[in-house]
Amino acid sequence: MAIWRLIGSFALFLGLAVSAQAAEKPNIVIILADDLVRLLPHTLLRVGWNDVGFHGSAQIPTPNIDALAYNGIILNSHYVPALCTPSRSSLMTGKYPTHTGMQHLVILAPEPWGLPLSETLMPEHLKAAGYATHAVGKWHLGFHRKEYTPTYRGFDSHYGYWNGYQDYYDHTMRATLVPYKGYDMRRNMTVDWHARGQYSTDLFTNEAVRIIQTHDSEKGPLFLYLAHLAPHTGNPEDPFQAPDEEVAKFAHIEDPERRVYAAMVSKLDQSVGDVVTALRMKGMLHNSIVLFMSDNGAPTFGVHSNRGSNFPLRGMKESPWEGGVRGVAAVWSPLLHSTQRVSNQLMHITDWLPTFYAAAGLDVHELGNIDGIDMWKALSENQPSPRMEVLHNIDPIEDYAALRRGDWKYVTGTAQEGKIDEWYGESGRGNENKSQKYNMQEVLNSKVGIAITGFITKQQLQAKTLARMLENGSLDKGDGRFKQMKLLSEIAVTSLRHQAEVHCNQKKGLSLSNTSSETACRPREAPCLFNIRDDPCETINLAHARPLVLQSLEESLERYKKTMMKPLNLPGDPMSNPTYWNDTWVNWKDDSAAPGESMTVLPSPANPVTTSFMTAISLIIALSIFAVAVKLSVNGTTKKSSFFSKFFIKAKDVDMSGNQKGVVQ
Ligand SMILES: *[C@@H]1O[C@H](CO)[C@@H](O)[C@H](O)[C@H]1NC(C)=O
Ligand SMILES: *[C@@H]1O[C@H](CO)[C@@H](O)[C@H](O)[C@H]1NC(C)=O
Ligand SMILES: *[C@@H]1O[C@H](CO)[C@@H](O)[C@H](O)[C@H]1NC(C)=O
Ligand SMILES: *[C@@H]1O[C@H](CO)[C@@H](O)[C@H](O)[C@H]1NC(C)=O
Ligand SMILES: *[C@@H]1O[C@H](CO)[C@@H](O)[C@H](O)[C@H]1NC(C)=O
Repeated sequence: MAIWRLIGSFALFLGLAVSAQAAEKPNIVIILADDLVRLLPHTLLRVGWNDVGFHGSAQIPTPNIDALAYNGIILNSHYVPALCTPSRSSLMTGKYPTHTGMQHLVILAPEPWGLPLSETLMPEHLKAAGYATHAVGKWHLGFHRKEYTPTYRGFDSHYGYWNGYQDYYDHTMRATLVPYKGYDMRRNMTVDWHARGQYSTDLFTNEAVRIIQTHDSEKGPLFLYLAHLAPHTGNPEDPFQAPDEEVAKFAHIEDPERRVYAAMVSKLDQSVGDVVTALRMKGMLHNSIVLFMSDNGAPTFGVHSNRGSNFPLRGMKESPWEGGVRGVAAVWSPLLHSTQRVSNQLMHITDWLPTFYAAAGLDVHELGNIDGIDMWKALSENQPSPRMEVLHNIDPIEDYAALRRGDWKYVTGTAQEGKIDEWYGESGRGNENKSQKYNMQEVLNSKVGIAITGFITKQQLQAKTLARMLENGSLDKGDGRFKQMKLLSEIAVTSLRHQAEVHCNQKKGLSLSNTSSETACRPREAPCLFNIRDDPCETINLAHARPLVLQSLEESLERYKKTMMKPLNLPGDPMSNPTYWNDTWVNWKDDSAAPGESMTVLPSPANPVTTSFMTAISLIIALSIFAVAVKLSVNGTTKKSSFFSKFFIKAKDVDMSGNQKGVVQ
């Protein structure tokens, strides 16, 4: 009897015995970084074409993220949409943004639209399957009406902000194209004023840890969606923010922006350490899946740039090039059989919904008609990816499209008028410091490294006891298959780092003007074709050389166009201005009949007199801003005028120029 109980708990502990897996659904923890550099210098996340030590920097170590990745699976062909809102909508629905109308830019703060309410989101599916569901941090999928906010979309709780970014300390959010600014931090629907003065990354980490500590596994598994602000920049007037004590650790970095950026990334890394440690302390690690990823590539320049470099990959955030869509990602779980490896299995962010669903032993068909593909078995057993194709995007407004099938990628048209079609960011050459070696001990001794080592050791101890019992015959063989996990070694880390690198024969300073006309890609003139496996940096356009491949990808694209929804973007609404709402971003378009719990700020819109007064005021303000804008543009100060007038004409087809367009959150 006691023996069976031991075996039972052992099987549960491993989470691998087939029966145990079916009985106990795994905890799912997603940690999403915002605008993380593809190229974290000197870490595994680096995409290097040179040798170890390039990039100058053990500058920004991320030992916790690295430990998670090396112990799990480094997803080296993981694709995401190139922007926040489309990326998050894909994760939540398992559908391409073209199938939900989210394919063009992002939801700007004053715009009254969001991820359609007809969609069923990941937390709703998981809640129905018995999960406790919690969201922490950024939302950015709509908030003009309460029905679009997290606790109305399947999350039991939400602590965080509704917009695309915020100030790391005062938690205000300044809109991008209009002079609106307001506080944006909530616990569920209630504005949380206590957060002021506390660093966002700490607030979100503490909340995530608290959720884990108070989680009751008896009642069901946990789904935790931790969507960090970091390392996105804060408001435009103060983009780089981190606590002094963290900044001081990077005193050796000369450039002050990069110094603070390093501190922001370091805080993010520590958050991963704290979350994994909390899972270990709570005894949840044996049955958890931890996914770490970035929502899109780094914005190397332009407004909201965090100076992250995607080099040597082409393009950046908001572009269909690899620099925008090939996202950093790694997954760890003792439920995965084949780990400590680099995966080149083609994968898209839409795949996580069916993948988690399958991992929980649920029937993927219940998810309906989605674009995501169940990758669980392929990841766990290291089998070929069932995914053949990735639609990167079709944006009918900016007029570009990109598609990948197998090794081939098709790109036509361009985002931002071709301003982000080249190769950007630091290559690491020049300011490198060869004596700064990758610090393996720091990785192995990071919080994540320690938690996983402790966990594996415990498992090995139990395996030893079990083996002894098998030996002396007090136990029958074949009581559940279990995987022997092994500790991460320095040799394994060295090998994995090497495998995770992307190699290009590409030199810094290469630009379109250096490329011969036959193989140069000018996607506004004609579609381009690349072989991503051979040429991950998209330097050689094979459209002329391989016309049949080109044509076949074009046909695929045409098929996707047939099922595409129109982009849902709407012009901004002056009534969203926090000025009217106690300087707070609110769900301003709720039915005035039911202001209720959500409208926790003044003035109440329920009063028709107030409402019409407000409308009148806003009209006056709007007209005067417009007049100013016109005046300014007449005077030739186009820069300022576009700032204001943009808001009024910023419908779908607006031709936003230069910086303004690069400002997407
Ligand atoms: C709101 O938050 C609290 C605690 O954070 C939670 O217990 C509650 O269920 C949440 N959800 C809603 C919809 O109020
Ligand atoms: C290079 O790194 C070493 C060790 O961290 C440090 O002592 C040295 O000052 C650095 N050199 C430069 C030029 O930054
Ligand atoms: C078998 O091994 C277990 C564990 O070491 C021990 O408790 C038990 O007494 C052993 N039984 C026999 C028959 O040797
Ligand atoms: C490419 O051309 C630019 C000028 O058009 C030049 O500055 C740069 O050095 C060239 N790069 C290479 C790798 O030849
Ligand atoms: C209005 O905002 C202030 C902070 O600026 C806050 O202290 C106060 O509670 C808010 N009032 C309401 C009614 O929410």
